Amino acid sequence: MEFLGVSGALVALVAAFCLLILLLILIFCWWVSPILKQKKLKRCGIGGPTPSFPLGNIKEMKRKNSNNIHSSIVSSNLTHDIHSNVFPYFSTWQKSHGKVFVYWLGTEPFLYVADPEFLKKMSSEVIAKRWGKPSVFRNDRDPMFGSGLVMVEGDDWVRHRNIVAPAFNPLNIKVLASMMVESTNKMIERWATQINSGNPEIDVEREVIATAGEIIARTIFSMKDNNARDVFDKLRALQMTLFKTNRYVGVPFGKYFDFKKTLEAKKLGKEIDELLLSIIEARNKNNSLNKENSQQDLLGMLLQENQHKKVDGKVGKALTMREVVDECKTFFFGGHETTALAISWTLLVLALHEDWQNQLRDEIREVVGNNNMLDVTMLSGLKKMKWVMNEVLRLYPPAPNVQRQARDDIKVDNLTVPNGTNIWIDVVAMHHDTELWGKDANEFRPERFKDDVNGGCNHRMGYLSFGFGGRMCVGRNLTYMEYKIVLTLLLSNFSFKVSPAYNHSPSVMLSLRPTYGLPLIVQPLQQI
Ligand code: HEM
Repeated sequence: MEFLGVSGALVALVAAFCLLILLLILIFCWWVSPILKQKKLKRCGIGGPTPSFPLGNIKEMKRKNSNNIHSSIVSSNLTHDIHSNVFPYFSTWQKSHGKVFVYWLGTEPFLYVADPEFLKKMSSEVIAKRWGKPSVFRNDRDPMFGSGLVMVEGDDWVRHRNIVAPAFNPLNIKVLASMMVESTNKMIERWATQINSGNPEIDVEREVIATAGEIIARTIFSMKDNNARDVFDKLRALQMTLFKTNRYVGVPFGKYFDFKKTLEAKKLGKEIDELLLSIIEARNKNNSLNKENSQQDLLGMLLQENQHKKVDGKVGKALTMREVVDECKTFFFGGHETTALAISWTLLVLALHEDWQNQLRDEIREVVGNNNMLDVTMLSGLKKMKWVMNEVLRLYPPAPNVQRQARDDIKVDNLTVPNGTNIWIDVVAMHHDTELWGKDANEFRPERFKDDVNGGCNHRMGYLSFGFGGRMCVGRNLTYMEYKIVLTLLLSNFSFKVSPAYNHSPSVMLSLRPTYGLPLIVQPLQQI
């Protein structure tokens, strides 16, 4: 008995010891190690707001956000000076800590960067494949992106990029134009019916996102209406589940705070993966039976590029089917909302600037003519439209930040950014910085892009709509084409005015969106 008592006590002691070790490891990982990193940066003069355990600076960020929602900018005083509205906490912290500082999401320190010179020096030290993506975001967004191009690192990134990038070359994507024209014409018919029934107020953000979703589902999978809709609805539901919840990214066990939603996202993610896998396997089977006639869509192009990477029919440097699924999800999440928002913000800005609406309409008439069956080879002649697009992406960047994680120590002058540091680049701040763009930084002036692809910005890393370096957006050619097609068709058919119901309050839900939708008064130019 006594022997059992002693061994029981021993087991309890060992268990307590193991628990203590585990606790110490967790404390080290969650608190001591990040603090050491922060101290290292502080010694080099990089400050930041004081964090608290375990939320870091999240409480203050949420408080500032909700204050802002209550005092959002109203349409009578519509300004493009949006940084303090979109990122109120960064705008406040910039005043006391400058354009480079450290803030904390839970127990994860982030190096905030809104200084293009610092960014240039830091990125000149790192080749694209040595950049990481913050592990906290990789885990958080795993159901959406998995190991798709946005999230992979190192040699895997090189392998993915070598297969994905050629699929997006301008010659390949030209064949996708007719699907874009078809989906846009359907939207135009819908709008005409609504206007004819006496309601000219249209939430263009909701409408354009739905159309861009249909376009991306069709351009990836060539699916006709209902099938594309099914895939689109499921993917969109996943995004909503992940981003409409009260989120605590970086906080230990943060994703279990809303356990139901986390499970829901996991379940949806699995359903989507199975659905996409069955589509891709069916396509692969079809391709091997019908080699001459493989389908002309992004999936077809991806599978074709992938085939070239196979060595003697074996995997070699090719993507696995699981990776192809993740790439398709990445195209969907990375591609449709960003493009739709570029178009939606453009419609708002054109509604405010009737002169530019007319200038673009004149250009369309000159370059493309007057018909709804576009010839895509003409689109490159729409120069002013490209300036407008660049200017809108500057004022309202759909991707409002770019992220990295250091995978080595990085030297920037006399500072060392330690290996593992998360980096958060504030694109909105840089795009609105009067020191970079001049006094008129917050004005809509597309002509600044007339003779300068960098819009006259006095630093070449101050304009980052599509990111920077080797990891720059792979889908930008597709966006240029879709933007020009949709806008050409819309401006040829309608005129736009801001609705009195519009409340100007851009906010971030992964991308930069109008919080309360984007109602515009839409009038047909002639009987449609
Ligand atoms: C207005 C539209 C778009 C904007 C503003 C945008 C913006 C961005 C940004 C800022 C990045 C990060 C770059 C970096 O980390 O340096 C990125 C990467 C990426 N984008 Fe886009 N994007 C758009 C459209 C698209 C489209 C249409 C697709 C595909 C269908 C796409 C697919 C991707 C992919 C796969 C990456 C990862 C590239 C890599 O890490 O190698 N994007 N995009």
